[in-house]
Amino acid sequence: MLYFIANWKANKNLNEMRSWLDTFFKNIDKNSQTKKKIENGTIKIIICPPSPLLYPLKQALDNRTGIAVGCQDISIVEGGTYTGEVTAHNLESLVDYTIVGHSERKKYFGETNVDVLKKYSFVKKYGIEPIYCVASEHDSFPSGLDFICYEPPAAISKGDAKGSFESSEKILTAKKKLRVQSQMKFIYGGSVNRNNVIEYLKHREIDGFLIGGASLDPIHFFDIIRSA
Ligand code: PGA
Repeated sequence: MLYFIANWKANKNLNEMRSWLDTFFKNIDKNSQTKKKIENGTIKIIICPPSPLLYPLKQALDNRTGIAVGCQDISIVEGGTYTGEVTAHNLESLVDYTIVGHSERKKYFGETNVDVLKKYSFVKKYGIEPIYCVASEHDSFPSGLDFICYEPPAAISKGDAKGSFESSEKILTAKKKLRVQSQMKFIYGGSVNRNNVIEYLKHREIDGFLIGGASLDPIHFFDIIRSA
């Protein structure tokens, strides 16, 4: 199974999401080969919108197989008098997956590795599947993970820049150094787009992609998926 995870970050409102989904579904329905792969589980899509859009997204995906709802982050607290927090408990049975420890949380909001481990424990407790991010090949992670996402900060948000992306070789070396076990899914994130994904897809050791910028455009995101 190949995973394509859209991380919209702090982008899109309800209307923009609806129009994104409309275009995305039309593209899937027009392309029977890709549609079949999504429906038979060869391809799995996880869409991670901003938290307020999680429920309408879940409703919109109701009759679609192979497309799941994911959250971008969860609170460091389990619950209680913490105005504005969105906890793993709040998200229980609403989302299937959540990204944990994205490097942007660390860069802009001072999240530490200790915070990430706390979040991870809540995510597990409430039955959500964590997509656990590491920024470097030297990072550690809890044992028993199903998903690890290698997303080196220097490779993120480069847009369509030509020729300056992380090479497959570097990504696979990082996988080795991280000692990713065979039962774990190894996801790569860092300016993946419809051009560079063709090279990455040659390597079956990469189980999927976390896609930020290029997932904001439904046609671009679909083109990436169609390459698989
Ligand atoms: P990007 O984001 O595709 O915009 O570089 C990747 C990520 O969120 O890790």
